Amino acid sequence: MKFRIRQYIAIILLILVNGVYAATENLYRSPNFIAVNKAGTLLFISEETSNTISVMDINTGQIHRRYNLSGTPGGLICSEDQNLLYVTCGQSNGVISSIDLKTHKINDLISAGHTPTSPILDSERQRLYVSNRYDNRVSVIDLKTCRVIKNISVLREPIAAMLTQDGNHLFVVNHLPDNSSSKDYAAAEISVIDTERLEVFQTIRLPDGSTAAQGICLSPDGKFAYVTHIMARYKMPTTQIERGWINTNAISIINVANFTLLNTILLDDVDRGAANPWQPTCSADGKYLCISHSGSHELSVIDQQAMLKKLALVGTDKNPSRVSDSPDDVPYDLTFLTDIRQRISLPGKGPRGLAIVDDTVYVAEFFSDTIAKVKLTDDKKQKTSSLPLGPAQTLTAIRKGNMLFHDAGICYQQWQSCASCHPGQGRVDGLNWDLLNDGSGNPKNTKSLLYSHRTAPAMALGVRADAESAVRSGINHILFAMPQERDAVAIDAYLKSLKPIASPHLVNDKLSISAQRGGKVFESAKCVSCHNGEMFTNQRSYDVGTGTGLDKDKSFDTPTLIELWRTAPYLNDGRAKTVYDIFKINNKVDEHGTTSNLTDQEIQDLAEYILSL
Ligand code: HEC
Ligand code: HEC
Repeated sequence: MKFRIRQYIAIILLILVNGVYAATENLYRSPNFIAVNKAGTLLFISEETSNTISVMDINTGQIHRRYNLSGTPGGLICSEDQNLLYVTCGQSNGVISSIDLKTHKINDLISAGHTPTSPILDSERQRLYVSNRYDNRVSVIDLKTCRVIKNISVLREPIAAMLTQDGNHLFVVNHLPDNSSSKDYAAAEISVIDTERLEVFQTIRLPDGSTAAQGICLSPDGKFAYVTHIMARYKMPTTQIERGWINTNAISIINVANFTLLNTILLDDVDRGAANPWQPTCSADGKYLCISHSGSHELSVIDQQAMLKKLALVGTDKNPSRVSDSPDDVPYDLTFLTDIRQRISLPGKGPRGLAIVDDTVYVAEFFSDTIAKVKLTDDKKQKTSSLPLGPAQTLTAIRKGNMLFHDAGICYQQWQSCASCHPGQGRVDGLNWDLLNDGSGNPKNTKSLLYSHRTAPAMALGVRADAESAVRSGINHILFAMPQERDAVAIDAYLKSLKPIASPHLVNDKLSISAQRGGKVFESAKCVSCHNGEMFTNQRSYDVGTGTGLDKDKSFDTPTLIELWRTAPYLNDGRAKTVYDIFKINNKVDEHGTTSNLTDQEIQDLAEYILSL
């Protein structure tokens, strides 16, 4: 009896502790995007973890209203007449809402795709363009009828967009490469949509190794688009990190008139990286191009005109650059911005979205729940201050781990954070890396860290006993820093807290008819003998005929199939662009399940099933 009472008390305590714990996680605000009204008097700040929008009075720095949303905000924009705020929110149940700024009523206008983000207003045509990140589609919404008039397929994870000045073209940033990673070219690309015909009419290639493309902005004269992204030197072995040997951080400049890439400029300095460039924005007078760096907690303030002028002179006899002889050298030149850019350390952690009002930049500091305020001047004595969005919260282990995972401050010379190769909350960059833990000359496709702690061993060849050891060796051998045990424990806690996102292949949260048929093929083709249990892996290694010449051991750890839809390309070296390719091209002699006897339709069904997990 006594034992029972004790058990009950223990259970009640556990529930209480968990309740308090969950409540604390929800107290964080995590500002991610900022919009401004036309008059430049109000900032609208979306807050990712509290599902709210704060309205800040620019004059006083005070929050004078807060709106509660039905889901996670993915972007916001204020109408031309300043009466409405359009907000995209939610994940698989995404909606576009409008907030009436006079009556404060929130209207869910229309249900959108999976994780709608970056709403763009076309006042002329009375339209809204929304990028649905996980459907890989852009929705075109007619605001008069509140209807989706077209869904336009783009490449992979559209995350940000921008309309040209004449309104004729929408530039859409695809976050990740959409290629096999074992070929010559793997990079994120820009899709250009013709807004008259409502179709993609051109794709602009970013340089090989461009990944985690994040933001885009237009120069005030409408001539150039600036795109922030990482430039991964993924073809080199990760033997050192100095001078941008592994990841560099860049901005690509697109010539809007002819839809071509003008060039790509590195944002790092020779001995100091400027990790995880997030959002670019120009000041209205075109003098400055400002970029937030979420990994190194900085703001780059670039003299836009000087940068364009210098670029135009490279390769001529008036070339001012001592390093770049020709335009082809620029994407490798770590000195290009010297003298024409100021690097400003921000007071808070994790700067993401930003807005410029007159001569002041406001930056959303995700992990500090603050807005940094920076006055733009040429005299290199910028005044920075910090505006809190609420009372400061203590850090839980998960929040601290989340912060460290995105923090290049723990990397030698702050070149990269864990999120540089594992963007999207510990997922993948779509590239191969030749890490040295399994020998060299055998690049491996980046793995998602979702459920990594529940599916030991770690790494394709299982060379790390578990995720804990991979986390510590990551800090040591990839960030070139000494792992602090308490930091590593926090990163473990964060990674263990990751939850899968519902697959865009599901129909009303259920398997489609094709996926249901595929579930039966999954059994008959003997997939279940290895991909079984809750995690779809028996955690053992097998040679399924996918080894390359340079792998000493051709047995690979059976990977989990959960969230497979998000982790292309596939197989240890990312050679398969699609699941279909794994079986149609890479399993001719049935070493990897029995698939050679399957019809094309059966393989499609099988793919549909595992892409729904
Ligand atoms: C330069 C790119 C890069 C960076 C930076 C990076 N990783 Fe990785 N990570 C990879 C690749 C590639 C793999 C898969 C390697 C393999 O399969 O052999 C991987 C695998 C892992 C795994 C094992 C996943 C599994 O289930 O097998 C963990 C855990 C991990 N990384 C954690 C981290 C942490 C924590 C950091 C920051 C300290 C980090 N990584 C930084 C590229 C990177
Ligand atoms: C003998 C054990 C075994 C069987 C049977 C098996 N698999 Fe696998 N599977 C593996 C191993 C090992 C890998 C890793 C191969 C690699 O990385 O090159 C893998 C990789 C995969 C991948 C790629 C995952 C990724 O993230 O890159 C998919 C998808 C997959 N299997 C699905 C299936 C399906 C569907 C079947 C049935 C037709 C099947 N497997 C049968 C062991 C097995």
